[in-house]
Amino acid sequence: MDGNGRWAKARHLPRTAGHTEGEENLAAVVRSAVKRDVGWLTVFGFSTENWRRPRTEVRHILGLHEKLFGRVAELDDLNVRIQWIGRPFRSPDARTPRFVQRAIRKAIDDTSANTGMTLTIAFDYGSRTELAQAAQRIITNDLPATAEALEQLLYLPELPPVDVLVRTSGEVRISNFLLWQIAGSKVYFTDKAWPDFDEHELDNALALLA
Ligand code: FPP
Repeated sequence: MDGNGRWAKARHLPRTAGHTEGEENLAAVVRSAVKRDVGWLTVFGFSTENWRRPRTEVRHILGLHEKLFGRVAELDDLNVRIQWIGRPFRSPDARTPRFVQRAIRKAIDDTSANTGMTLTIAFDYGSRTELAQAAQRIITNDLPATAEALEQLLYLPELPPVDVLVRTSGEVRISNFLLWQIAGSKVYFTDKAWPDFDEHELDNALALLA
């Protein structure tokens, strides 16, 4: 969801206002995706590198996650199931505060019976760390070093291969996001900042699959 900061800067607003707008836009994109029968939507909410941002910005983004994971009534109305992908809370480098852990666990539990779209939030996520921990578990458990074995050791093995990867805000490069899962995926690049990513943009991205 790139470009929240730039969206805010262009309006002479603080970066945090861009993230707030980004969260509102995520709610709108979720509604649009459900209308279009999208089965899986995965968004990069917070990376393992994002902890390095200024404290006030990190605190604001954490609060937005708590709020998003709390929007269970809306998600129930849409029959959306929440999932999370990221560094396990118990891992030595994990820094997810308890209030976010609680919100994530509760949202997963509360929406687990929903049978429509699965909305997966990547929080404290980094693809290389995900792959490294899978490789380490292969070694520790003396498993065969095959693609099939590694796939089962990813953070969220149920996540299907990505059909279309979206990059907003003019970023024409791949980031540390779902590197294993995007093999063979289409890529939709747009200059629109995340808060401006609307239904029309979603249709453009999905048109790559036609
Ligand atoms: C990248 O834009 C955005 C983030 C690091 C945060 C994404 C968070 C949200 C959209 C808020 C809520 C989302 C959830 C899932 C609750 P940037 O800050 O790097 O913007 P820039 O590239 O313009 O600087």
